[in-house]
Amino acid sequence: MSTDDVKATVRERYGKAARQVTDGAQSSCCSTACCGGASGDPITSNLYTEAETAALPEKAVLASLGCGNPTALAELHPGEIVLDLGSGGGIDVLLSARRVAPGGKAYGLDMTDEMLALARENQRKAGIENVEFLKGEIEAIPLPDDSVDVIISNCVINLSTDKGRVLQEAFRVLKPGGRFAVSDVVIRGEVPAEVRRNMELWVGCVAGALTEQDYQQRLFETGFEAIGIEPTRVYEFEDAMAFLSGTGLDGEALARDVEGRVMGAFVRARKPGG
Ligand SMILES: C[S@@+](CC[C@H](N)C(=O)[O-])C[C@H]1O[C@@H](n2cnc3c(N)ncnc32)[C@H](O)[C@@H]1O
Repeated sequence: MSTDDVKATVRERYGKAARQVTDGAQSSCCSTACCGGASGDPITSNLYTEAETAALPEKAVLASLGCGNPTALAELHPGEIVLDLGSGGGIDVLLSARRVAPGGKAYGLDMTDEMLALARENQRKAGIENVEFLKGEIEAIPLPDDSVDVIISNCVINLSTDKGRVLQEAFRVLKPGGRFAVSDVVIRGEVPAEVRRNMELWVGCVAGALTEQDYQQRLFETGFEAIGIEPTRVYEFEDAMAFLSGTGLDGEALARDVEGRVMGAFVRARKPGG
């Protein structure tokens, strides 16, 4: 799998997911073709409280393809600048924007035009002004050094083929003392090589996931401190069967190898100083 192939496939699948929400085809959109997405999906379903979703446009909720609820776990204060890496339909950007008002601002960054259009439409419907959606790649963040208080992200860093670069960019744009507060899929132990090589599972947020150890090590080497990884949802046998279906792999056999080893987790760290 070359970097260009992975990026093109990710962009194409998430563009399709956005179009299906925009056209009203609801969440039959993805199944394993993107990070969860089918209703009842073990990765993306039931991440937000009713109070959170009730205050958002329906299509922001339908487009939710994360694996956690980073804004529920991140500390956010009025006046702060938040950046969401891979903001999709904008759900976490809109939730953050309310928390940092008055005086703060939430940026969403995404490389997929259809997701950006959907996110901007959701912002307009929500009537939230302290938000800006930027087009770009998380490996080259279009913001200046030391300009962000909190980086959030929801199930996106696992999709990158250059995670070292993503972490360096996150470190660069954070202010001294700034927080990294990210939901992501992580692996405990190891998963079989055929899982790692499968493009459907890469686009589905599993194959590219870092191990807990590797994530911690990379954050440390980038310069972060106060690093922690807390599992928020561990995927068991039935969950593994669900994300392995449609991948062309032997679901039942592999589900036994991966059950309990793939999880949604909250990853936190801090840039020194401040
Ligand atoms: C799994 S979805 C998550 C969307 C959103 N965070 C959520 O919770 O609903 C992944 C999103 O990240 C974007 N994405 C993936 N790789 C990216 C990259 N390298 N740079 C920018 N955006 C990327 C995709 O376009 C898609 O909108």
